Amino acid sequence: MTAVATERLINPHGGELVDRTGERPDGLDSLETIALTSRELSDLDLLASGALSPLEGFMGAEDYEQVVAEMRLASGLPWALPVCLAVDAAPKGDRVALADESGRPVAVLEVEGVFDYDRDREAERCFRTTDGEHPGVARLYEQKPRYLSGRVTVFERATPAYPELALDPAETRAEFARRGWKRVVGFQTRNPIHRAHEYLTKGALETVDGLLVHPLVGDTKSDDVPAATRVECYRVLLDNYYPADRVVLSAFPAAMRYAGPREAVWHAICRKNYGCSHFIVGRDHAGVGSYYGTYDAQLIFDEFAPHELDIEPMFFEHSFWCKVCGSMASAKTCPHGGDDHVFLSGTKVRELLGRGELPPVEFTRPEVAEVLIRAYRSAHETAG
Ligand code: ADX
Repeated sequence: MTAVATERLINPHGGELVDRTGERPDGLDSLETIALTSRELSDLDLLASGALSPLEGFMGAEDYEQVVAEMRLASGLPWALPVCLAVDAAPKGDRVALADESGRPVAVLEVEGVFDYDRDREAERCFRTTDGEHPGVARLYEQKPRYLSGRVTVFERATPAYPELALDPAETRAEFARRGWKRVVGFQTRNPIHRAHEYLTKGALETVDGLLVHPLVGDTKSDDVPAATRVECYRVLLDNYYPADRVVLSAFPAAMRYAGPREAVWHAICRKNYGCSHFIVGRDHAGVGSYYGTYDAQLIFDEFAPHELDIEPMFFEHSFWCKVCGSMASAKTCPHGGDDHVFLSGTKVRELLGRGELPPVEFTRPEVAEVLIRAYRSAHETAG
């Protein structure tokens, strides 16, 4: 990609886009090696690309404490969730190799320190629950007992699952600049794009220059729709219903934490690094089960001073199809009652797909529904 001026775009969080990629160092074989979990590997890749700017590595005790207590780094800069590497014990040397799940070294960490952490406190503060049934809390309770901090240098980037959708923050910024965009709205999703999502993204796009559809493709819960199926859904939807010159589709290689409100802030900060000036937060953003109130992920933004985050959250009410209005709507724009609204739970959609029936067009575009039915059938044939 040729260099394009990106100064019209929002600044990265903290001012500079971090780049923690580098050369494979000498003497790697003599270093102690730590194998990372799949979630830690996603964090490592985000650190490498600058998606977590200004972080340069796994957090130290001071940053961690302040993030857990007050949603701020030690510098005072807003930051919503810990980015930590869990280990059993302190390594001996001042550098360690970090390995992927196959044991292959991919990065080096300059050891800054090792510290204890309180799982219950982290769960309560970050997830608002200590319930082990919560998928993010369950992962926290399973992980190793201490945190190792230090700056990382990644010499072997993870192979992206969807290479044509893999754009680092510097690349999305260059693409936005090439298109002449200044105001860009980011859309996080871990689902196929249904009519409600389409309504949000198009409503937001009406007021800005461009839309970054930025599905998360790292680890999700096992009952979420697999990323490969979702990517097919995004492609067919964008090809048929969105103007190509106003939309960039790219994958966000993070793992879901399901931390609801705090994750909404974290998602927004990451998208700022990708060059988004605006970020969509709808109902129960990054939520799971009934741990969070419908709009908690919007209310949390009030804990920051106006413009402190710089990226502007765009809040959307719970939206649905209204049969009387004959359009998508929300309680803000529709005077009719629940009986006139089309609302389908995930379970109901799975039941329909299981019977080979297309969910109604008021819920999902037929092209997307076809992809889902095909994926559902082949998953069940394989399982059966
Ligand atoms: S998330 O976990 O990635 O946030 P999801 O893919 O379900 O989940 O949602 C993506 C975005 O769309 C989030 O901002 C969420 O709040 C919003 N959203 C999803 N469904 C609706 C809806 N029916 N009405 C309003 N906002 C919604």
